Amino acid sequence: MTHILCIGAGYVGGPTMAVIAEKCPDITVTVVDINQDKIAAWNSDNLPIFEPGLPAVVERARGRNLFFSTDIPNAIRTADIIFVSVNTPTKTFGAGAGMAADLQYFEKTARQILQYANGPKIVVEKSTLPVRTAVAMERILNANGQQFEVLSNPEFLAEGTAIQDLYQPDRVLIGGKDTESGRAAVEKLASVYLHWVPNERIIRTNVWSSELSKLAANAFLAQKISSINAISAICEKTEANVSEVAHAIGQDRRIGSRFLNASVGFGGSCFKKDILNLVYLCQTYGLHEVAEYWHQVVKLNEYQTKRFVDNILTQLFQTVSGKKIALFGFAFKANTGDTRESAAIYVARQLIEERAELSICDPQALLNAQKDLAGYEHQIEYSKDPYRAAQGAHAIAILTEWPEFQTLDYKKIYESMEKPAFLFDGRNLLDHRLLFELGFNVFPIGRPSLRHY
Ligand code: NAD
Ligand code: UGA
Repeated sequence: MTHILCIGAGYVGGPTMAVIAEKCPDITVTVVDINQDKIAAWNSDNLPIFEPGLPAVVERARGRNLFFSTDIPNAIRTADIIFVSVNTPTKTFGAGAGMAADLQYFEKTARQILQYANGPKIVVEKSTLPVRTAVAMERILNANGQQFEVLSNPEFLAEGTAIQDLYQPDRVLIGGKDTESGRAAVEKLASVYLHWVPNERIIRTNVWSSELSKLAANAFLAQKISSINAISAICEKTEANVSEVAHAIGQDRRIGSRFLNASVGFGGSCFKKDILNLVYLCQTYGLHEVAEYWHQVVKLNEYQTKRFVDNILTQLFQTVSGKKIALFGFAFKANTGDTRESAAIYVARQLIEERAELSICDPQALLNAQKDLAGYEHQIEYSKDPYRAAQGAHAIAILTEWPEFQTLDYKKIYESMEKPAFLFDGRNLLDHRLLFELGFNVFPIGRPSLRHY
């Protein structure tokens, strides 16, 4: 029986391994983490992350061939394949601070594997890493003689749809060395995915192509959002409608219709960090024009969020001091409780700076929101109830596209608010004409505003 170990029980390690265990009853899968509370949560009915469909998958496999543990040494000893799925945040200190990936957690796992392994193993980079990290990994691991094959197998799941993405991936990417043992390791890992992924969807490449493809995929996706957000700014000046433009250009199959939703700005733990990582890599190789090209994707995103806040200030007569503003949504996207790099954090902080009183409403992300905004308790109230959050507010800002915000009774909400009542739809989620007819002054993204003055 093959034993798989995954080091890192986060948003990637947990769901990925749960699906592998579910689909491969003949494989034992253990997930370890240094965070004991997280492991305890994975072993309980209250999983540490909110992800639709995940509890049922964990339920089916846990205790059968899926185990969550903090016993890292023992898990390393018994494993044949070790996935490393620890966090790789942006470095905050020293050379490359604010740009390069901080590889300290990743390197620590390599040293742990070396310390406890008692035979040859396949080590799989699941975390997103700078190109050529596998070289460093291999040097550390094989310092005492050739024992380990290092593969790159980046993860492409998106939060909120993780289970579907894992069940039916567009592709599985495996990068390995073009040597006999390298090819054998690639096929051993491929045989795990072949339990449910068709062979033609499993792409085999060299290690560097695989590492770079992950950064490139996120850069292309984020670039698409920044492109439509740039167009949304032009729309607001010209009375063009960004949704109509997105539809019109998206019908061209070379462009494609997905990922063209203009918004308050992309968030999430990866787009910004991975692009900055790519920018740093380009700078390191002296490719300054290429670095600047990709950097602009991040800069445009920051501009888009700032534009949104500036508009709130302008429309509310240049002052929000002492005014209640309701933020509908705090998660970086719908169907997750994750708030990492959420545009809502920037919006909230700017409004707090302007001395607004905030009421924040989100079905899943309030605990994380409280952590993100720690220290500002006196200016913020948190509520799961949107009606309560909007009561007495001068404005509502829609920051996450939760479907439940679409079916609220906005007549009731309007009546409970201060007048004139404003609604800033950072996701173009609602029926703007209807809101206008109810009395709201409505400010969408990239569409003409609807105002009663
Ligand atoms: P996360 O922060 O949710 O989880 C990482 C986990 O690793 C944490 O629980 C942490 O305690 C643990 N950890 C750190 N050092 C450890 C060590 N030495 N031993 C054991 N455990 C350790 O991060 P995540 O969102 O799961 O992301 C992990 C990697 O996957 C990142 O490189 C990220 O870029 C990439 N990725 C993330 C997503 C996503 O949707 N979140 C998607 C694709 C790829
Ligand atoms: C993204 C990628 O989609 C995954 O393929 C990748 O594996 C992952 O990053 C990663 O490496 O971490 P994720 O960040 O979970 O996944 O979610 P996305 O659906 O990509 O959304 C990212 C952000 O872009 C969200 O804030 C979302 O609201 C925003 N977005 C997305 C838009 O503003 N407009 C769109 O049209 C699409």
